[in-house]
Amino acid sequence: MAKIEDLIAQIPDERLKRAIGAEVRELKKNKKFGLVFEEHLPETVRLPKLPVREGELVAKKRETGNELWRVKSIRKGIATLERSIEGYPVGEPAEVEVPVAELVVVRSFGDPIYPALVPVDRVARGGPDKPWNMLINADNFHALQLLLYAYEGKVDVIYIDPPYNTGARDWKYNNDYVDKADTFRHSKWLSMMKKRLLLAKRLLKPSGVMIVTIDEHEVQHLGVLLAQSDMFANHSRQMCTIVINEKGVAQGKLSRVEEYAFFCFGPKADIAPQNDDLLAPDRKDSKRFTLPRWEWLLRGGTNSRREDRKQLFFPVIVDPSVPKIVDFGDPLPLDQQPNLEKKDEKRVSWPFRTDGSLGNWRVSPGTLREYLKKGYVKLGGYDASRKTWTILYLGKKAQKQIESGAIKIAGRNPDTGAVSIEFTSGEQRQIKTVWHRSSHDSGNYGSTMLRNILGEGGVFAFPKSLYAVRDTLRAVTSHQPDALIIDFFGGSGTTLHATALVNHEMGGSRKCILVTNNEVTEKIESKLREQDVFPGDPKFERHGVAESVAWPRCRSVIEGRRMDGTPLQGDYLDGHPMSEGFNENLEYFRLDFLDPDEIARGDAFKAILPVLWMMAGCRGEREDSKGSTPWFLPKHSPFVVLIQEKQFHAFREKLAERPDIEWVFLITDSEENFSQMRRTLGRKYECVQLYKSYLDNFRINTQDALKG
Ligand SMILES: C[S@@+](CC[C@H](N)C(=O)[O-])C[C@H]1O[C@@H](n2cnc3c(N)ncnc32)[C@H](O)[C@@H]1O
Repeated sequence: MAKIEDLIAQIPDERLKRAIGAEVRELKKNKKFGLVFEEHLPETVRLPKLPVREGELVAKKRETGNELWRVKSIRKGIATLERSIEGYPVGEPAEVEVPVAELVVVRSFGDPIYPALVPVDRVARGGPDKPWNMLINADNFHALQLLLYAYEGKVDVIYIDPPYNTGARDWKYNNDYVDKADTFRHSKWLSMMKKRLLLAKRLLKPSGVMIVTIDEHEVQHLGVLLAQSDMFANHSRQMCTIVINEKGVAQGKLSRVEEYAFFCFGPKADIAPQNDDLLAPDRKDSKRFTLPRWEWLLRGGTNSRREDRKQLFFPVIVDPSVPKIVDFGDPLPLDQQPNLEKKDEKRVSWPFRTDGSLGNWRVSPGTLREYLKKGYVKLGGYDASRKTWTILYLGKKAQKQIESGAIKIAGRNPDTGAVSIEFTSGEQRQIKTVWHRSSHDSGNYGSTMLRNILGEGGVFAFPKSLYAVRDTLRAVTSHQPDALIIDFFGGSGTTLHATALVNHEMGGSRKCILVTNNEVTEKIESKLREQDVFPGDPKFERHGVAESVAWPRCRSVIEGRRMDGTPLQGDYLDGHPMSEGFNENLEYFRLDFLDPDEIARGDAFKAILPVLWMMAGCRGEREDSKGSTPWFLPKHSPFVVLIQEKQFHAFREKLAERPDIEWVFLITDSEENFSQMRRTLGRKYECVQLYKSYLDNFRINTQDALKG
């Protein structure tokens, strides 16, 4: 367009030159720099659990795609429908009649819906002090809105690996796979991404970082999208190239070995230098850059039964109020059994193995006393299933590195005396923008690792290398041991797995919230459709990625055993046996949609409780309630809900007995009463008003969500 000014300058007629010049200036005001893409019909969501009623927007279950109808009337189980586009009738074809059983309710993005987190399963191995990780089976557009309610401006890291839009029918837009033949495939992808990124941006703290991985199919478009003024223009952005397959795959005329990760840093984000810059040549890979880990005192592998090392079966004495180790008892003769009374469960720790049998420790009581003085032995979490604490210690190699000065003691925990270690400063380097580590190979450390965990049945295309995600999370959270990490394109669950691994390697309680939909592969979906099995039917849903891959994977790696109970084979790169699992807690939820006209008040209260628990930091074992008491004060979590406003004074007295409470939810429809109660309670608490019509508190999917 710059050329046009030169051409105008050559127009001899002055009046014409001025007039055309003015027109062109006007036109240029409307010219956008950057990405211009088509807007599409709004995305829709099918809600199989909602009843089909007159007036509802519906689709035919059997049909894929997005052909929508409005229900005009229902008589004797047969619905009369008229065609509808974007919710408006189009009159063509004329009305049709379809059995109600063959229809499913649809909502467009922009039509309010009422979400509820429905608990499905859980695994608790982190003890009461570790927060809970979450896996949510949902479309991320809805989950992000719920997360915004709880965590707007509070998230440290967002890591996402969206569908790459390769043209190989690897994702769906409006209930239809997007393939190479679709001329709108890029704009559909961009419009899907933009909606989600607008919400994601609002989740990040000013010190937060978002990482988006991508390959050659959309890298250019994504880069420009992120740079748009309403997106991440004010974040500093850098792109890393990551070698994920050294052998290369044929892509056009060159052999492709890499993919990319965009980092978007909030204005206050910081990234700590690491001992591995992820590029420096190192054939032995990153092992020499890895800090020695805190090892498990419980012996694994050979000679790990009690009778194999009789002198190493002794109690570790714990003060659970801190919690910390205070001493070590004498070995217990083989003919005596540990007498573990309920009150002593957390005071005395024995070497109980993951399968429940008796094992032994790796180090004698005398040596451990020396280690305790030096701060080289400490507690991990409490494992309720084994009824013992995990005990961790720094082994001989680590101690030698401390003596030689290769690593240094960075500090001591004031309560327990346990040291924290770091490399001596000379070895710290800034991470590079090209990563080349064989541990980032997505074949070995993605697909093969997943097969090892799930068995041959675990089908998932292109999981990330566990270590590529681990290194990303280490880069952005090494200085934030309590970071909140969200991945809303969770897939097989690599990000949650990597979070647990980083906590294990570096210490800390980073928490991961993983969202994935329950997409079914195209092949399985068409088979199920032939058998008249459709989304929403448990027979269909159990083949989805959340149900059949993400949950079994996350649960198995925490427990150290497959879903069939067999121990996981192999070790992590730092030597930690996979069969020992991780000290983490995880709860699995499904995002359901409620019918506000049908749900009983008690059920509505129950439905919102997980969201309140989530807002209060996913801390403590979650409890249920129907809300029929004046207030709800869960035993283990730092929040409380005042249900009957009139009981405020008695409630305040009760609150005084629970110094751990941080969040107070006050149910009242009056803004004035809320302000007054909040003032009376004082600044100590984070107070939140909830409306009596519980579900309205969390109405999502409204037009506002589309604006971001
Ligand atoms: C490229 S994969 C992520 C792989 C993941 N990083 C791993 O290592 O397993 C993208 C995933 O996002 C999920 N997904 C796609 N669209 C989604 C949506 N709208 N909401 C939630 N999940 C979605 C798909 O099911 C797919 O599993």
